[in-house]
Formats: sequence, C-alpha cells, structure tokens
Amino acid sequence: MESMKGIILAGGTGSRLFPLTKITSKQLLPIYNKQMIFYPLETLKESGISEILIITDPKNRPAYEALLGDGKEQDLSISYATQEKPRGLPEAFIIAEEFIGSGPVTLILGDNIFKNSFLKEVSTFKKGARIFAKEVHDPERFGVVEFTKENRVLSIEEKPVHPKSNFAIPGIYIFDNRVVAFAKELQPSKRGELEIVDLQKKYLSLLELEAFPMHGEWVDAGTFESLLEANIWAKKNSESSNKESKEKVSVLVVTKSKDARYLDKVIFSVMKEKEVTHCVIIDNATLGDGRLEESVRNYGTRITHIRNDVATGHSEAMATGLDYMRNKVPSEYVLLLEDDTLPEEGSVKQFLDIIKRLPKKDVVLTGNRVNLKRSSDIFYQIPTKGIMPTGSFFEGISLQRINNIVSRLRGYIAQHIDSNFIYIQPVQTFLYAGTFLPMEAVKRADLPDKNLITFGDNIEYSWNIKRLGYDIFTCYNPKIYDLENKDELESLSLFDTKTKEEDVFLKIRNMVLISRRNTTQSAFFLWVNIVLWHASLFILGFLSHGVSRNYFRKVKKIVAGVYSGAKA
Ligand code: TTP
Repeated sequence: MESMKGIILAGGTGSRLFPLTKITSKQLLPIYNKQMIFYPLETLKESGISEILIITDPKNRPAYEALLGDGKEQDLSISYATQEKPRGLPEAFIIAEEFIGSGPVTLILGDNIFKNSFLKEVSTFKKGARIFAKEVHDPERFGVVEFTKENRVLSIEEKPVHPKSNFAIPGIYIFDNRVVAFAKELQPSKRGELEIVDLQKKYLSLLELEAFPMHGEWVDAGTFESLLEANIWAKKNSESSNKESKEKVSVLVVTKSKDARYLDKVIFSVMKEKEVTHCVIIDNATLGDGRLEESVRNYGTRITHIRNDVATGHSEAMATGLDYMRNKVPSEYVLLLEDDTLPEEGSVKQFLDIIKRLPKKDVVLTGNRVNLKRSSDIFYQIPTKGIMPTGSFFEGISLQRINNIVSRLRGYIAQHIDSNFIYIQPVQTFLYAGTFLPMEAVKRADLPDKNLITFGDNIEYSWNIKRLGYDIFTCYNPKIYDLENKDELESLSLFDTKTKEEDVFLKIRNMVLISRRNTTQSAFFLWVNIVLWHASLFILGFLSHGVSRNYFRKVKKIVAGVYSGAKA
C-alpha cells in the first residue's frame, strides 16, 4: 500500500476572527511563539506522516510558501495547492486527487491544535475511515459521534439539539483512497458547502467507520475565545516541557569495540543535550589508554564510568549497565547507545516530544539508523514509514528485492498468524542503539540473559519489555547515525566471508533459543519454521555471496546452531 499522505486545510474565510483575518489567513495568526499552521504540521509529523499538502486560499498561498518552503527544514516534504473558494472540507480530496495517488490520506484542519499525536491510529490504518472522539461538556456545538468500545460508530450527527453522546469529532480524519471518488459524488448542503459529515456517513453506511476516543487536549482556534485559550495553553505547554525535560533523561553507553574510537564524540554529543542529566558508560575492556578517562573527567559527576578489565559478552555488559541504571540513576527515561552510534542533535527532545504526545504511555521508541544501507527495506513499508522494528537478522540479506518480499511476508505473518506462528526471528524487536525507554520499563523488565553472549540479547530484552505490555515503535526521527558503518549489512550476513563461523553458530543458536522461550509457537510450527528458515538462508546466502570458501562449513554451523538452540 502506498504510504499515508497528509493534507492540512488552511483556507476558509475566518469570518469569526474578523478583523484579525482581514489581511491575513487565520492559520498564519500567532499561537504563542509560532504561527498556527505549525501545530497541525507537527501533529501530522508526529503521527508519522511526512508527505504533506497544504491547501490555502489563492491570496495567502505565497505567505505559506515563504514560511514553510518545501519542508526540508522540518524533515518533511511539503507541497501546496489552492482552493478558490471555501466550498467545504471534502473539496480538499478533490483538489488533492493527484497528490493522494493510490494510498490513504489524513486530513487535518489548519486551525485544530492537538496535544497528542495519532501515530497508532495512522500506523495501523488499513481500510475504511477513522475519526476521533473527544469528550466535551457542550457537544451540541459540534459534530457528535456515538460509538462502541470496539470503535464501531453507531451514529454521527451535526450539531444535534439532543446529542446522543458527549463526544465531539475533532478536525482530523483518516480515509482510504476511495474518499476521492466519494467526495466527487457529494452534493452541497443547504449552506452551500460540501460537508465532511456526509463523507463520514458514507463510510458509516458501508460499516467502515471507526471512532477512537482521544484524551489529549484539543482546541479549535476559530473564535476569539478559543484563540486566546490556545495561546495560553501553548505558553503553558512550552514552559512545562522546558522545565520537565530538565530532570529527565539518562544515557547508557555500552562499549563494544576495543578501541572505542568514536566514544569521545558520542559522549560529547549526548552531554550537550540539555535534557540529559547523567550518563553511564560500561567500558567493556577498551584499550585503557587513558583517553576515555580524560573525556569523562570533563563532565565530573555527570558521568559514571564502570570498567570491566576483561571483556564480557555484550549481553553481560548490557545487563550490568541496565542494573546500575535502575538502582542508582534517578531519571524518568533511559537512552541506550553503543560506542559508535551518534544520535542527531536535539534527539533527546525529539524522543521526549514523541513519547509525551502518545496517548498510551507504555511505549519504547527506537530512532532510525538512517545511514544503514537500504534501511527503508529493513523496516516494514507501512504508512507511517518505520513503525515496526524488525529483527536484525534479515538486515543481513543484501538482495534488496528478496529482502523486500521477505519483510512483507513477515509483516503478513505478524498481522495474521502472530499468536501461534512467529518466524524464528521474533517479529517485534528493537535495536539497542538509539532506544529510548521509560525508566519504569527498565525497572520492571528482566535483564538480558548473560548466556546469550553476543547475539540476540537485544531481541530477548525486547521480548522482556513487550511482555510487560509496552509497545515498541521505530520512529523515522530522531536519526541515529552509525559511525562504524563499514558495509554493516554485508558483515551481518551469515555467509559473508568476514563473518566468523563461530558467530554463525551462536547467532543461530540464540535465535532459536529466544524464539522457543518467548513465543507460543507449537513444536510443530517451530520445526516448520526451522525447515523454511534453513532453506531460505541457504538460498539467500548463495545468492548474496555465491559458494564462498566456507559456505558448506557455515551450513553445518547453522544446522548445529538450530539443534543446539532447540535442545538448550
Ligand atoms: P471553519 O472554521 O469552519 O471556517 P473558517 O475558517 O472559514 O472560519 P469562519 O467560520 O470563522 O468563517 O473551517 C475549519 C478549517 O477548515 C479552517 O482551518 C479553514 C478550513 N477550511 C478550508 O480551508 N476550506 C473550506 O472550504 C472550509 C469550509 C474550511
């Protein structure tokens, strides 16, 4: 499916705000420290939508273009279109037909300000239409929705005298591609406009309309009162997020390479983030040439340096670090890093912003490792781009096409037969580098199993966290740069000549072991998996690297790994 597009409708007459709107557009009025349009723009961005069309009236379009340009500054792709006259919200879909293409679309009204994002509802959207429901004390002023616990809409009414529920419909709507055709069929209402409620009713008549209650604040800034309210609210919000973020985040860095030659850079960049209060470094027997001590000294008590004189496996180092964090470091969130992963500037605030806006708080985020080659193939190609962190195993396959097919297949398996058929590699897992998680999760989750040595500990830890009810998301921002990116995908591949035979054995063994411990698949399915897995590995290994020198020896290691994992 094509990715989710976003539309911001920023036309209209703004008559209720006259004369403020006499010479400018409503959505260009200031809300505290920025123009109104930035709020819906950020809502879309935080909901995982990056291709955005802004529809304006003809007169003000140049002002919007001057303000937002092509969106690069915000890491978005922004384009523009005009609506000649305010003929109603559904006209947006007719104007945007070409922009929408063949995928789904989210429409947000330019004067609607939300505190939370809609990441979950956007990312899980497949078909039909989704609206939201906000409990209010004066529903008769709004479109009102009545819906079941299962999100099925029973009725919608526009400004009813006797509302059937207290739930108003805010100005953000998700539709599948049929919305364009449906919008074209609409007739103007008595007030001479196309009505969004008629589109919703169309989907309701097909039994394909869902409503999701939202709990975050919402302001429709279309009147003097609500405009003032939005300003006060935005001021309060920005102050509290500045204050809150002060005490919040600690960073755990685990070194994995002996020379740890990027560690200085990593330390410098995280300590610069104003939200970071403390950093713990697990120095897993680095060269010990004094360089690390020197850079640590600069930060005094803000850094704790724990050294292993003899290197342990990665899992053990990780467990040591996590254990220290949960017992000794008071902070609300933990950011996990390795010695060669560099989060982009402002990343901590980005993580905080996303996590704070999510309606559900039991969430772990991982930043996207952008400069891994073909990273867009690693993460499922779903509308929000990169929600589903996949396991690291298939990163190893360098044939893009096959990789793509495999990840789709895995996506399909994940959605449809998740409970009893999980591909050997657990489907939902996250990568250490650049993972941002609530301290509460760190405190509650079991530590990674030290016996996993080098491979798979992150996957097992992900399972430990998932079992506690946390959702794990990969976000496209912030970006996490791999500094040691020497053809990483190639070297992860089992059949690459650079990959050690012993590592092949360990990796396979751990995967099977972890799958057995953490998934509910029956013995039968486990064996089906193993057979399928073998077959695909051998073929893919062959296609990627040919029959390399040690191809057959590695095949033997794989077989041995599977049996060892199954028995362990
Ligand atoms: P409204 O607030 O309903 O309309 P308005 O902005 O013209 O204001 P007023 O009622 O005070 O005259 O519109 C909601 C949002 O949708 C707002 O951001 C403007 C936008 N809009 C359009 O862009 N085109 C339209 O045809 C309509 C009806 C609204």
